[in-house]
Amino acid sequence: MKNPITRLFAFSSALVVTGLVPMAAAVVLFATHASVAQTAAVHAPIVLTGADKRPALSLDGDWASIVDPYFSGLFGFHHQEKANGWFLNRKAQAGDNFPTEYDFATAPKLKVPGDWNTQRESLMYYEGPVWYERDFTYEPKENTRIFLHVGAANYRSWFWVNGAKVCEHEGGYTSFNCDVTAEVHTGANSVVAAVDNTRREDNVPTLETDWWNYGGLTRTVSLIEVPETFIDQYDLHLSYGMGSVVEGWVHVVGAKPGAMVDVEIPELGADTTALVGKGGRAVVHLNIQNLQLWSPETPKLYKVQLRTGQDAIDDLIGFRTVETRGTEILLNGKPIFLRGISVHAEAPYRTGRANTDKDAETLLGWAKELGCNFVRLAHYPHDETMLRAADRMGVLVWSENPVYWALEFDNPKVLAKAEQQLDEEIGTSRNHAAIILWSMANETPNTDARTQFIETLAKRARELDPTRLITAALLVRSEGNTKIVDDKLGAALDVIGTNEYIGWYEQKPETADGTEWRINYQKPLIMSEFGGDAKAGLHGDENERWTEEYQANIYRHQLGMLNRIPQLRGMSPWILMDFRSPNRPLAGIQDEFNRKGLISDQGEKKAAFFVLQKAYKERTVGKPE
Ligand code: GCU
Repeated sequence: MKNPITRLFAFSSALVVTGLVPMAAAVVLFATHASVAQTAAVHAPIVLTGADKRPALSLDGDWASIVDPYFSGLFGFHHQEKANGWFLNRKAQAGDNFPTEYDFATAPKLKVPGDWNTQRESLMYYEGPVWYERDFTYEPKENTRIFLHVGAANYRSWFWVNGAKVCEHEGGYTSFNCDVTAEVHTGANSVVAAVDNTRREDNVPTLETDWWNYGGLTRTVSLIEVPETFIDQYDLHLSYGMGSVVEGWVHVVGAKPGAMVDVEIPELGADTTALVGKGGRAVVHLNIQNLQLWSPETPKLYKVQLRTGQDAIDDLIGFRTVETRGTEILLNGKPIFLRGISVHAEAPYRTGRANTDKDAETLLGWAKELGCNFVRLAHYPHDETMLRAADRMGVLVWSENPVYWALEFDNPKVLAKAEQQLDEEIGTSRNHAAIILWSMANETPNTDARTQFIETLAKRARELDPTRLITAALLVRSEGNTKIVDDKLGAALDVIGTNEYIGWYEQKPETADGTEWRINYQKPLIMSEFGGDAKAGLHGDENERWTEEYQANIYRHQLGMLNRIPQLRGMSPWILMDFRSPNRPLAGIQDEFNRKGLISDQGEKKAAFFVLQKAYKERTVGKPE
């Protein structure tokens, strides 16, 4: 790959050769961009834990946008990556002898955070690059570092500040932070992003998904300023079996060994000072009196203050333990049954990507109304707003890495992408008491390449976070009326998740009555998906597909069957709310929505909602706690 300077030289000389611009102009052009290119230091984005708890300048709001299907803003007519700088908001000058075609000043706006698909009808089906730009004024403080915090950008994204490229990222559902210290200056600044949601074979997830490929800066964007020595990641959790010790670590960037880190929980009168060791990590061990354990019934959160040097973070953390014992799942040492529901990050009512506190409270509020103590957040890490709400509202969480269906499991580059997304998911969200399960995958083919791929991810997740349970949603196979769970990936998991659609994709709802289950693992089992589509308000006979009665009938028979599975320790039927999917074209019924929701996207509760609510409220499903 040619370096930017030579590429620019080639580009300008091409302009001269083709007589597009006189030599003089080319020299100016070269000079300007060369200089910009020289100052650009492209850093790999970093992970920040508790970034949402740091003071920040929000960059949310209206951004100028340019839809660029051929990515001509980045790649020239010979696929050469163009020198940047065109987005230095260069206004067309009277004497210009070249056209200015990309001009943010006159470009239409897109809201950030938000997907572009539901903001503009012409973009509903759009998959490709879109440019974003917004100006901001800033007064950088002395001896600080400034990070551009991106809550999520689906799928690939590139960022420039004041014309200098600062970073690029791949993965649509995790947050990342780009160092822009060298680029941000006092006064007026401009940030430009290119976001491309084109689906590719070697992406994670890959080409096929049963959810809408919402593109854009889908979660909050802000500027975070920290001292030169600062805390990037930390882990604080209740140690097992010693209900009175909070332990973990704090990682400090730029600290010398021996530097002090203070961790305090004022409400409990507990504090400790830990010393930074090799690699910047300070190991924390905090003795606690009178700790109230976090649980769905008592979602107690404590203000935790972390201090080192000039840096300070105040986080809100709940303390609980989760583990397995044989086929039991123990929360705070006691067996628990996970009364759950699956949830996509689809915004209630307005549809599109969910990304606000209100979205989270509405979705989790419905789950609680259903009688849930648990949600499966599918099939990708959800927004921090959702996880904060789950902590607050006392809803246990299954969080999933988007290893979905048939990735290129034998492609090491794809493994690296999945590992990077896992690092970002766990690094960002590791202190949420609500999260009890890291899910490695959903419905992946039972091949050796797949098993090795996910075993590698599971091993990495355990190293990153030994305090939570590892799971995945497996496919099951059938022999006659017996469902068999013997996917060899089960051996790498703490908790087995299985998906089945008896009564919808196969057989009749009542077939569940005679279905036996053979589970080849002495581990807790979660039925991570079952259900069927129903159009809200469509009524008919219980054997009439697409009606609420048919869906309710599926649930009645499922609940009976599930209660006959001895090691069933939880369930998350598919799904809380109807969500957009390009795979669901049935006119007048689906209209590009997966209608397996118990609630429509407009908040209409279907008959099956009340069937499940009754079972959850009366605790007639699952082993009594
Ligand atoms: C699959 C898959 C979901 C999908 C669901 C369905 O099992 O995991 O993503 O939406 O089934 O078919 O509705």
